[in-house]
Parts: sequence; structure tokens; C-alpha cells
Amino acid sequence: METEILKIDKNAPDPAAIERAGRILREGGLVAFPTETVYGLGGNALLADASRKIYAAKGRPSDNPLIVHIADMEHLPPIAAEVPENALKLAGACWPGPLTMIFNKTSLVPDETSGGLPTVAVRMPSHPVAAALIRAAGGYIAAPSANLSGRPSTTKAEHVIRDLSGRIDMIIDGGDADIGLESTIVDFTEDVPVILRPGYYNLAMLSEILGEVRIDPGILDAAEEKGVRPKAPGMRYRHYAPKARLVIVEGEPEKVVSKIQALADAAAQEGKRTGVMASDETAGRYRADDVKDLGSISRDEDIARGLFDALRQFDDDGVEVIYSEAFLTPRMGQAIMNRLLKAAGHEVIYA
Ligand code: TXA
Ligand code: MG
Repeated sequence: METEILKIDKNAPDPAAIERAGRILREGGLVAFPTETVYGLGGNALLADASRKIYAAKGRPSDNPLIVHIADMEHLPPIAAEVPENALKLAGACWPGPLTMIFNKTSLVPDETSGGLPTVAVRMPSHPVAAALIRAAGGYIAAPSANLSGRPSTTKAEHVIRDLSGRIDMIIDGGDADIGLESTIVDFTEDVPVILRPGYYNLAMLSEILGEVRIDPGILDAAEEKGVRPKAPGMRYRHYAPKARLVIVEGEPEKVVSKIQALADAAAQEGKRTGVMASDETAGRYRADDVKDLGSISRDEDIARGLFDALRQFDDDGVEVIYSEAFLTPRMGQAIMNRLLKAAGHEVIYA
């Protein structure tokens, strides 16, 4: 399949270009598009066939449900059977934006889109190209992250082109993603709202808006070893993973620097190509084949934005083992560490 690559200016989306992409979606085709979190691989959420095509293009297991993206509040009731009061409150505070909410679904949502679950995940993105495309597509776009299954999510059009060209109808290049990590997912189908995936909105921010909020025990650090399964099917798979082995080193900062350097030296001795992921504060102190400075600890939104790109660059550079500092920052730390731990297959060393 020939994939058309279409550049669209985020600040002034060309209506004719959006209409062309919208038509592809209305007719059941696939279009990758930018959002403020990561790029999405879009198909018409109300067509079972389009969802089947999404799974095939990504190589994704078909029991892993898709997020339905909407652009207007009036499109929520037709797909969500019950929307509790506190969900409306959260929507008021965070939509459009990097938040996904889970509700019981109506029969309008095909089982293919919801991965066979009786629930549906819904998000209203704030990216102007995404919003315009959703409206042009008829109101409902199902979109997982636009990466091949298991690979890091895509935050730049070039990542999407690398993973998906030849597999889908169109890729819209709308520039780099602002946030760089996928949306926060909150489940509203239980008595108390439950965070299934941390993102730009962390536990403290959600508690401030909602009062009582829980975190799915399946996504906490040691859950995997204890056999507690995350509720979001997608959080169960090894994920976001570079081809290289990734090891996280945690502890007191000075000890972390020495430990990472010792590990990188030992790997280099064995003839391995080595990488280090560090912050601005420490990056200059490492010697390795590829040292990446993700940004200052005091600006952890920069670290989040560049994380997936860094993981992909290590692969392009042929790095075989990556040692990463832990980024336990207050604002984005939950989301960064959740992705990093999954990418590392939970391999953590305490310095
Ligand atoms: O920021 C984002 O959310 C991006 C952009 C494109 O919007 N999308 C995204 O989709 O990250 P995806 O498919 O890569 O991740 C969706 C996650 C998966 O872990 C999936 O299992 C979970 O959401 N999910 C979707 N529907 C669900 C449901 N009904 N119940 C529980 N988990 C669900
Ligand atoms: Mg994904």
C-alpha cells in the first residue's frame, strides 16, 4: 500500500487537507495523526472493519482495546452508557487534553473497537489537527499510539513514517508532540475512580479535582513479580521497548553516577556498544558510546517529551545496552517511571 504523507500546519490546519483525510476515515481507511500526547493511528471507531485494520497495521493483539477520540461533548452520550457526575467534573477540568476516561459502552461501539470489553475508553484531544480531523471523520476516531506493537510510541512524524509507511493510507505530519507520553487513563466504571495509566495528569492533580482516587495496583512497581495484572490490557505487555537491553539505576545521585559508569565500563570491556540516559545535571560526567541528556530534573516535562525519541535513537545508533538514571520527579515522574520501567522489563539496580 502506498502511504501518502501530508504536512499540515498545526496553527492553521488547511480545511481541504483535513477534509481529504476525513474522507479516508469515513470510508474505513487508516490515517495517522498528531495529538498533544503522541501520534495516533486513526480509524473510524464505529466501523468494526476499520478497527480490525488498526490491529493488523500495528501487529497488535485484538484483545487490547482502542481509545475512542471525540471533539465535542455531545458525542459522549451516544457511546457511553453512564457518565457519572465526577467524570463530567473531570472532563470540565481536563478536556480537551491528555486525559482518557473509561465508561460502560453502548451498542454503537463495536466489540472490535473495545477489544471485546463491555467498556469504552474516551479521550478529547486538544491538538487542533486532531480536533479538526475527528470532526471531518464524523465524530469518532479509534486511535492507539501510532507505533508498531511493542515499540516506543511515536512523538515525531518521522517515527510514524518509520513504523507504519506502506501499512496505512495516510500519515499527517503536524510537528512534534508537546507532551510526549500517552494520556492519563481513569476508569469510572467502579465505585471510586481508578488510574489505569499515569500521564500528564498525576495522582495528586486528579485527587485535587475528584477527591478520592485509587491507582490500579497492577501498575505499581512490584506488581508484575507478585502476579497482579493491570486492568488496562495494554499495560500488561512488554512495551515501549528499545531493541537494546535497558537497565534503570536508582539511588542517591552520586552513587548512581558511579554505579552507571562502572556498569557501562564493564559492558564496554565485553565489547558492547553502550548508552546512558541522564539528566542535564549529570550527563556531562558519563563516558559511553552514546550519552543522552534528557533535560534538567527541574524541567521534567522536557524529560517526558524526549523519552521515546531517545529510546528510538539508541536503536538507530546500534546501542546494545542502555543504563538509565531513575527520574523520580514530583510532576511527571510517575508517568516517566511507568514507561521507563516497562521499557526496561522492570530491570532495576539499586546503587
Ligand atoms: O495519549 C493517548 O492516549 C494516545 C493518543 C493517540 O490518544 N493513545 C494511546 O492508545 O496511547 P494506546 O492504544 O496505545 O493505549 C491505550 C491503552 C491501552 O493500554 C489499552 O489497553 C487501554 O488504554 N484501554 C483502552 N480501552 C480500555 C478499556 N475499555 N478498559 C481498560 N483499558 C483500556
Ligand atoms: Mg500504545
